[in-house]
Amino acid sequence: MKFLALSLLATSAAAIDLHLEFAGGCSTSGGGYICYNWNPDSCCSVNAGTFFNSGSFRAIPPQWNIQARGHAPPRCGTIRQQEDSRGRTYVCLGNGPFGGLGYGFNNRKMIRGATVEEKEETETECVQPNVMYLADGTQYNYTAIVEAKLDTVELNEIAKAGASAADIPESFEAFKIVQ
Ligand SMILES: *[C@@H]1O[C@H](CO)[C@@H](O)[C@H](O)[C@H]1NC(C)=O
Repeated sequence: MKFLALSLLATSAAAIDLHLEFAGGCSTSGGGYICYNWNPDSCCSVNAGTFFNSGSFRAIPPQWNIQARGHAPPRCGTIRQQEDSRGRTYVCLGNGPFGGLGYGFNNRKMIRGATVEEKEETETECVQPNVMYLADGTQYNYTAIVEAKLDTVELNEIAKAGASAADIPESFEAFKIVQ
């Protein structure tokens, strides 16, 4: 039954984006990370040492009633703040620090009208975000950086400090996302 729900999501054009924000109030001004097209019950987290003051859930299909979850550090710890979307396409959780974000469904019957099993969901997976962005808005392909096995600890520290693209080591230049 769980597989059925997930495959319905996968074929849906809509998908939720999770934003981990260093600044409070879900402001992008301090830089952060983006978890694009995120699946339910998979927590998005950078590493044990990177915390966020706020987190937002964007592009939520209005017909989905999700539980937007902010997890206590480190990474995907206990749920620190949770809110139902109830038709909203955007939810901001402001009571950080969060080590990660994730979501689940309150009512699985709401998924594209399909009748699927309702049960308590547990988040087991902890997955790294796909994009990192700096306070100046410059974006980097974090998936590719992790795949290339570059040292992300230094990069995360620089991002956390509110740096601009000029402060980022040259080895990351190739991973910049041209917008
Ligand atoms: C990021 O890199 C991966 C490959 O490592 C690629 O599949 C993906 O399309 C890239 N994303 C962007 C936004 O460039």
